[in-house]
Amino acid sequence: MEITANSEDGSLILIKQGAEARVFESTFVGRRCVVKERFSKKYRHPSLDSKITLKRLNAEARCMTKARRLGVSTPVLYAVDPVQHTLTFEYVEGPSVKDIFLEFGLHGIMEEQLEDIALQIGNAIAKLHDGGLIHGDLTTSNMLIRSGKNQLVLIDFGLSFTSTLPEDKAVDLYVLERALLSLHSSCGNVMDRILSAYRKSSKQWSSTLNKLAQVRQRGRKRTMVG
Ligand SMILES: Nc1ncnc2c1ncn2[C@@H]1O[C@H](COP(=O)(O)OP(=O)(O)O)[C@@H](O)[C@H]1O
Ligand SMILES: [Mg+2]
Repeated sequence: MEITANSEDGSLILIKQGAEARVFESTFVGRRCVVKERFSKKYRHPSLDSKITLKRLNAEARCMTKARRLGVSTPVLYAVDPVQHTLTFEYVEGPSVKDIFLEFGLHGIMEEQLEDIALQIGNAIAKLHDGGLIHGDLTTSNMLIRSGKNQLVLIDFGLSFTSTLPEDKAVDLYVLERALLSLHSSCGNVMDRILSAYRKSSKQWSSTLNKLAQVRQRGRKRTMVG
């Protein structure tokens, strides 16, 4: 393992081991934090690999900062370590939207809460897109609800990029639509609610939603063929 626990700053507890990153819980100057370590792909050339890893690390930090500037809640970025390839964030206390929606599947939908979350998701994506930022991985695990405030916080900008193309925005929404259909079918028309908020909030909704219709059609054709 490349990073070691600092006795002053507490231990590292593994939260998630992914294909590109490991995520730990730790403390940073006395505050609960999340440390995301990007690691190298063994099949790539070491020095090239280090460059690519560093580029993605910086891109993730930049995109998250940009999202915040656009008025979307994200965790506070505490530190970037280009040597250890880590980002350190504020730990957001609260469940993921995935957990909340799965709970609805088990114990029935809390209509008001579902409406509120869908509204916040639609508004947040509209702000990102109108500012030329594509999240790139809009799933319900990458959305947290800050306890107390019930505020949506977007995380995981590891696949984010800047673009003003309606096609890129439509694919961003399509990823979320597929994720909701496969994981949260019990939440009914939640995507419709999200899109209705998006339409009200985004100035460029029309070109994006037209593209979304095309992207869906392509998706359907692909399903029929494959
Ligand atoms: N700032 C944070 N506060 C609380 N939990 C977080 C935070 N960042 C990440 N997590 C948790 O760690 C998981 C993985 O982090 P994420 O950035 O999504 O990495 P990955 O790219 O591997 O999906 C998230 O799904 C979430 O459960
Ligand atoms: Mg994630």
